[in-house]
Amino acid sequence: MPQSVIFDTDPGQDDAVAILTALASPELDVLGIVTVAGNIPLSLTTRNALRLVELAGRLDVPVHPGCDRPLRGPLVTAEHVHGATGLDGPDLPEPNAGPQALHGVDFLIETVRANPPGTIRLLALGPLTNVALAFSKAPDVAARLQDIVLMGGAYFEVGNITPTAEFNLYVDPEAAAIVFASGARITVLPLDVTHQMRSTKARIAAFSALGNRSGTAVAAMLSFSEGFDLTKYGWDGAPLHDPCVTAFVLKPELFDGRSVNVEIETGSRLTRGMSVADFWGVTDRPKNAFWVRSGDADGFYELLVDRIGRLP
Ligand code: RIB
Ligand code: CA
Repeated sequence: MPQSVIFDTDPGQDDAVAILTALASPELDVLGIVTVAGNIPLSLTTRNALRLVELAGRLDVPVHPGCDRPLRGPLVTAEHVHGATGLDGPDLPEPNAGPQALHGVDFLIETVRANPPGTIRLLALGPLTNVALAFSKAPDVAARLQDIVLMGGAYFEVGNITPTAEFNLYVDPEAAAIVFASGARITVLPLDVTHQMRSTKARIAAFSALGNRSGTAVAAMLSFSEGFDLTKYGWDGAPLHDPCVTAFVLKPELFDGRSVNVEIETGSRLTRGMSVADFWGVTDRPKNAFWVRSGDADGFYELLVDRIGRLP
């Protein structure tokens, strides 16, 4: 029986690889894609999600636009990483299909309520604005989900958009605080593990070598989005963030972590958006998240290449 999943996402090249991998995986039933403002404004994240389902030949998967700004404060975007379109790199055609009329937050609520409790996994790849609003509007949803598997936060690797905050949590710290306090079962794929998953030249070449349009597109995406990080970190490859979420759902044995308490800083000017993970258990705060600390990078890329190779 395939696992039912819903994406909440701000595509973004790395979001794209996460979504394409899921669309290629028979173990997963992607019920829908909810878009959020993050890497680029909502209109572009939605356009990109539509282009991705078309690239994958999966027009059966609905795209529901969600929130166009964080709960509080201005939207912070990341065109410096992802380009003006948010999906720079491949030359993907304009989507033929359009987005759904139902707001993404309402799609989340209605879909979770329409399915048996504990059967839907929410895969969050961007700022948590939609998720927080869904939990606020429908408090029963948090406990009804099987779990949330999200890319966000950092402890050992500290911040990537500020010295202390990871981008997804930084864009909407209030939303992240609501989600981590919701009681939902949460698995976090933070920079601590995504920084181990580096897209080296050889790994990008493996996508090109697939010879299908999706593999060629993924190679072009990663070749574009790596630029900023290679300059910033000086590593042999840029970290690949969001596909860690899909890989964790497909093959959790690739990863290792522990249950910890996570709180989100919202008040400090200096550390706003920081995920304060009590990794060493020095407080008695409740353990509200499974924090992934490490992963098998070779196994991760083997999985991605295998699944992308199954697409058109
Ligand atoms: O910090 C990495 C996260 O920010 C990823 O989800 C990437 O897509 C960007 O949204
Ligand atoms: Ca993202």
